[in-house]
Amino acid sequence: MRAEYDRDAQNAIQSLPYWPHPRPAHACRPQVVPDAATNPPAHWQAGHATAMMVHGPATAGYLSLPQRWPRLIVGVPKEIKDHETRVGVTPAGVKALVEAGHKVLVETSAGELSAFPDTEYTAAGATILPTAAEVWAKSDLIVKVKEPVPTEYEHFRDGLSLFTYLHLAPLPELTDKLLAKNVTGIAYETIRDKAGTLPLLTPMSEVAGRMSVQVGATYLQSAHGGRGQLLGGVPGVPPANVCVIGGGIVGTNAARIAMGFGAKVTIVDLNLNRLRELDDIFNGRLYTLASNSYNVAKAVEESDLVIGGVLIPGATAPKIVTREMVKRMKKGAVIVDVAIDQGGCVETAHPTTHSNPSYTEHGVVHYCVTNMPAAVPHTSTLALTNATFPYLMKLAKMGITEAIKSDHGIQDGVNTLQGKITFRGVADSQKKHYTALADLL
Ligand SMILES: NC(=O)c1ccc[n+]([C@@H]2O[C@H](COP(=O)([O-])OP(=O)(O)OC[C@H]3O[C@@H](n4cnc5c(N)ncnc54)[C@H](O)[C@@H]3O)[C@@H](O)[C@H]2O)c1
Repeated sequence: MRAEYDRDAQNAIQSLPYWPHPRPAHACRPQVVPDAATNPPAHWQAGHATAMMVHGPATAGYLSLPQRWPRLIVGVPKEIKDHETRVGVTPAGVKALVEAGHKVLVETSAGELSAFPDTEYTAAGATILPTAAEVWAKSDLIVKVKEPVPTEYEHFRDGLSLFTYLHLAPLPELTDKLLAKNVTGIAYETIRDKAGTLPLLTPMSEVAGRMSVQVGATYLQSAHGGRGQLLGGVPGVPPANVCVIGGGIVGTNAARIAMGFGAKVTIVDLNLNRLRELDDIFNGRLYTLASNSYNVAKAVEESDLVIGGVLIPGATAPKIVTREMVKRMKKGAVIVDVAIDQGGCVETAHPTTHSNPSYTEHGVVHYCVTNMPAAVPHTSTLALTNATFPYLMKLAKMGITEAIKSDHGIQDGVNTLQGKITFRGVADSQKKHYTALADLL
């Protein structure tokens, strides 16, 4: 990685469009000592327009270059969604961006709840700003974790790019605000890699899937309104029935942990090939069930814990578990609808927060927190930024427009551009006009 960033810094210098003085005949490109490339002096980072001197080992003298640093100003505001404790860029990410010649503005205490204090950001080369307003106003690209909340809408402006989870399908107001200000909205959750998977959803789905069983086990306890049941049972007492709906990343991780607890696990999916894989992966130790309303109704009725992990990328989740099915569930059973960030796959589910995470309806405890990984921010921030950073670096290195043009994965992530919805799932869910990204590039 380090070598790649060093190359980025060199390439940036070598691609400068003009020289302030005629080029020496022997130097077809500036000579850059590695230290200058990897640790640009402070005044490069400060964006001064004055010419700078770069050591030229071949000439044993100095060559003057025009100042173009920083290439991109990246802003990292503090997350303000309820109990959201993750942060969009870690100090390690800041260091790599700064080494590549970019400037990073971090709102004070943005990383504190993920155990990254301001001092670590400063040491990595970030500029700490006292307010979110300043970070939003001075940045070209804002990197966040969760979708902006209403108090952040006022920061939207023409020319701004936003790289974060957006989950626009169930959020028409946010969509309208992004469109009204021509914000380029690049959503983590719809970026695809070459294998067709969703690499920026995966780490958080891993966290949420594993957490869903911990949470479910807690709410099954009588003190939390549950039916007073231990997931694994004990010798002579059978284990709990856990039904996982959706056998993707959330579902697989939930199943793994539930089986670890000793529960009896059934996993439901539409995709039969996926069920075959799961049968293989878990060596027949879980039950697989094709998704249809008959099977789902029967499995849900018999379950003590139901975990919702269905996804149709970029679209509102289908209601697989109906109100009638919930009414027939055992009293004190628990539903953890992880898919709630896409509207939920259980008809009786509505979004809750970490401050007030659960409610009971038809005698069934519902836990529907839209940002579950925020409960374990240190793990989640590291897992998330491991996955987002290569894309962030590409956006910074190439510039937003060129990065979108050149990378099909990033193209899939563009949900709004130039006042248009460019992701079909969002347009269809909101019954709004869809514009193909290719028509705008
Ligand atoms: N609440 C949170 O904090 C949180 C955190 C992470 C992920 N999520 C959400 O969890 C959901 C699942 O994410 P994922 O990464 O596991 O997605 P995924 O694409 O890996 O898996 C989704 C699965 O749902 C299956 N599916 C689709 N329609 C179905 C149907 N009708 N019946 C049964 N199965 C069906 C698909 O075949 C697929 O296997 C998403 O909505 C995601 O946004 C929420």
